[in-house]
Amino acid sequence: MTLKYEFPKGFWWGTATSGPQSEGSADVDGKSKTIWDHWFEIQPERFHNGVGPEHTSTFYSNYKEDIKLLKETGHNSFRTSIQWARLIPNGVGEVNPKAVEFYNNVIDALLEEGIMPIMNLFHFDMPMCMQEIGGWESREVVDAYAAFAKKCFELFGDRVKHWTTFNEPIVPVEGGYLYDFHYPNVIDGKRAAQVGFNTMLASAKAIEAYKALGQDGKIGIVLNLTPSYPRSTENAEDVKAAHIADLFFNRSFLDPSVKGEFPSDLVELLKENDVLPTYEANDLEIIKNNTIDFLGVNYYQPRRIKAKETEVNKDVFMPDWFFDNYEMPGRKMNPYRGWEIYEKGIYDICINLRDNYGNIEFYISENGMGVEGEEQYINAEGVIEDDYRIEFIKDHLAWLHKGIEEGANCRGYHLWTFIDCWSWTNSYKNRYGLIALDLATQKRTIKKSGRWFKELSEQGGF
Ligand code: BG6
Repeated sequence: MTLKYEFPKGFWWGTATSGPQSEGSADVDGKSKTIWDHWFEIQPERFHNGVGPEHTSTFYSNYKEDIKLLKETGHNSFRTSIQWARLIPNGVGEVNPKAVEFYNNVIDALLEEGIMPIMNLFHFDMPMCMQEIGGWESREVVDAYAAFAKKCFELFGDRVKHWTTFNEPIVPVEGGYLYDFHYPNVIDGKRAAQVGFNTMLASAKAIEAYKALGQDGKIGIVLNLTPSYPRSTENAEDVKAAHIADLFFNRSFLDPSVKGEFPSDLVELLKENDVLPTYEANDLEIIKNNTIDFLGVNYYQPRRIKAKETEVNKDVFMPDWFFDNYEMPGRKMNPYRGWEIYEKGIYDICINLRDNYGNIEFYISENGMGVEGEEQYINAEGVIEDDYRIEFIKDHLAWLHKGIEEGANCRGYHLWTFIDCWSWTNSYKNRYGLIALDLATQKRTIKKSGRWFKELSEQGGF
């Protein structure tokens, strides 16, 4: 068969999930609480339908069957995360043998099925005991995280050859310290800047530990890139505003991760506003010397930006002092999640990485479409006919293909997600999986997209 879009040999086809969103068993076998378990205890009303982080799928107890489903849906690679609170329940010190056994079993089962594991080390799941001593505001936590990362490499690095230090490190900064959608619900740009810096330092320290062990794998980071488009490219104020949004939300982690340096204009802007984070003498050197081997790109939506028009409260420093979001007329929206769908964004990312980031090796580590009420698409055989998801993937892959043809160094495509999973405050509102989950019975049913994904992977394109 001739394929219109043929991807390179060995392309990674798969999905991503995370420990806290899929494992369940939140308080068994010695796992301690994360900030999510704690926040749900004190404010359950902040979670959609009052469904908290203990209601995930049951990957912890059902991983063997689930990994068979990975195979059935054509995966040759899969990302999940190791929960710090499960592996080292006190944040530092003693390792939980039950967790070691679990993650060993998962890794071995994946490899037995010929599925390459990509293990991530932090997916928003700060252990509560670490948050109690300051979370990412604390250098003690930075060092504890680096020690946790080193332990993971020692325990699992003989088989795991692709690691990522963080998933979307900007999100806990935005959610936890700017816009109140993660614990600890602080709204303070100065503290946010410190949290961002310390997270970047933690990533570099984990990379340093990995390199020191001399293992023969690769280490990277997963960033959610949101290309920033100005309302008008002819209006200098719009262009400047989009540039500043890009500095805050993309380049704050992208530049130090790939190039080892923060963008000088971001540093200047923080300095002028007296919110530059504090750091120690050799922190910048650690960041400089420990850049990534490969990048994971989560792409969901772009940012549409216009010059600041609305009034701002100047009491507390916020990125929003410098730009407004622009509701571009006619843009295509995912009505359920409220996110714009702009397929070409994935191509623009390819070209940006090719031209401005040394053509770094990357893969699409998340892309996906969250939909409410998918039950309405169930056919007579009980299968969800999610043609909209297949179209969504195809449209993005077509642009990704063009980026690769033009020289972008992209190694794979992972969809968010494998089995419908629990999601932060949205709980089960939006379903993203190739496989439907009945939360009450835990029954898994492959959706039409899951069957199609297998074909896509086996053919190497469509
Ligand atoms: C990414 C995260 O931001 O998007 C996932 O890495 C998350 O953890 C996914 O679930 C989808 O977002 P949401 O909020 O719709 O679940």
